[in-house]
Amino acid sequence: MLPRLLVFSTLGLGAWGYSFWNETQTKDLPEKLQDLLSNVSKLTERGKLNLNDVSIMDSREEWGAEAVDCSTQLATPVDFLIIHHLPGLECHNQTVCSQMLRKLQTHHIHNNKWCDVAYNFLVGNDGKVYEGVGWNIQGRHTQDYSNISLGFAFFGTKEGHSPNPAALSAMEGLISYAVQRGYLSSRYRQPLFVKGENCLVSPQNTGLKKACPSIVMRSDWEARKSHCPKMNIPAKYVIIIHTSGRTCFVSDECRVLVQDIQSLFMDIHDTCDIGHNFLIGQDGAIYEGTGWNVQGSHTTGYNDIALGIAFMGTFTGTLPNAAALGAAQSLIQCAMDKGYLTPNYLLVGQSDVENTLSPGEALYNTISTWPHFKH
Ligand SMILES: *[C@@H]1O[C@H](CO)[C@@H](O)[C@H](O)[C@H]1NC(C)=O
Ligand SMILES: *[C@@H]1O[C@H](CO)[C@@H](O)[C@H](O)[C@H]1NC(C)=O
Ligand SMILES: *[C@@H]1O[C@H](CO)[C@@H](O)[C@H](O)[C@H]1NC(C)=O
Ligand SMILES: *[C@@H]1O[C@H](CO)[C@@H](O)[C@H](O)[C@H]1NC(C)=O
Repeated sequence: MLPRLLVFSTLGLGAWGYSFWNETQTKDLPEKLQDLLSNVSKLTERGKLNLNDVSIMDSREEWGAEAVDCSTQLATPVDFLIIHHLPGLECHNQTVCSQMLRKLQTHHIHNNKWCDVAYNFLVGNDGKVYEGVGWNIQGRHTQDYSNISLGFAFFGTKEGHSPNPAALSAMEGLISYAVQRGYLSSRYRQPLFVKGENCLVSPQNTGLKKACPSIVMRSDWEARKSHCPKMNIPAKYVIIIHTSGRTCFVSDECRVLVQDIQSLFMDIHDTCDIGHNFLIGQDGAIYEGTGWNVQGSHTTGYNDIALGIAFMGTFTGTLPNAAALGAAQSLIQCAMDKGYLTPNYLLVGQSDVENTLSPGEALYNTISTWPHFKH
């Protein structure tokens, strides 16, 4: 795990991101929240905070926590901070926030079979901080991070609304208090997207997932057989690549091109298969490379944890057409829906993680506007 955490640090972290399970909510809320949150982090950096703001803390006894006996210690100071957001748990006063928190704790203990509520602390729109598992016990908020980070959560926010100034100011206070008291490293990083949890939102809101795009399978393009190592599913990254060779516009031509790329990898680069998990042609079709379950050989250090998606062609000066761009985006959505990709994945250009011109400047500029992009 450690080498990968170091990798996160090379990706320009400290920026805030955002993701929701309900994708229709992502349109305006995330931007607003992201804006607010980045204001918070700016304030924190500037050290403008009143460190005693966090005197308004509601202890477990005060909100009526169920007594539990969780003993997995968190070794502090931790290097990571992860901010969450809990849609469906709106609260504006202590009575309601306490009630929401009891509901959440019950859910985590009895439905999820966790030891306690998942977060270290929670912040309400009443401007109060509520103690979750606290400073010294591990939460259950983020897979692979709970034992090395503090997880703070905002109680729910309705669509189109951000946490109010009282909540933001309480969060600021909480963060700087954590640093001041040595619970959080003063050089802490926020490696993942802010994660929404709507476990208590009624089930009809979970809705139907969009269908996955059709994929031209290996057998359809007559792939050579191969034996490569398995992926670590769910993948944590999507890496966008261009093959920097010729492109193709109709399916016969694209099938031949995928075969040629496979041969280039296997015969010239001496890899066990074609380098990419999926390839996309200017015919708008998605071609299965090594697929979901098998590692590609696209980016050293990332092949087991990243889906490498390659646009066939060179996209330094021109963009892939709309059909190809749309195909990539629906493939990524599909990967998330099917659990091949973690919901808080990071999207990067190949040049972000390796010394290369791929995916080309024009394409890079476009993917930098896509959800989950991290420079
Ligand atoms: C963030 O700060 C900027 C400049 O200080 C301000 O214009 C903007 O309104 C703030 N954003 C929010 C959502 O408060
Ligand atoms: C808290 O908020 C709820 C719902 O907004 C309201 O019904 C209730 O009266 C409030 N309680 C107090 C003590 O303000
Ligand atoms: C955190 O947990 C992971 C397994 O989930 C383990 O590999 C790692 O060593 C733990 N880190 C610390 C600091 O305890
Ligand atoms: C997402 O949330 C919106 C508003 O809360 C709701 O109208 C919509 O049906 C939800 N969509 C899905 C896919 O859950």
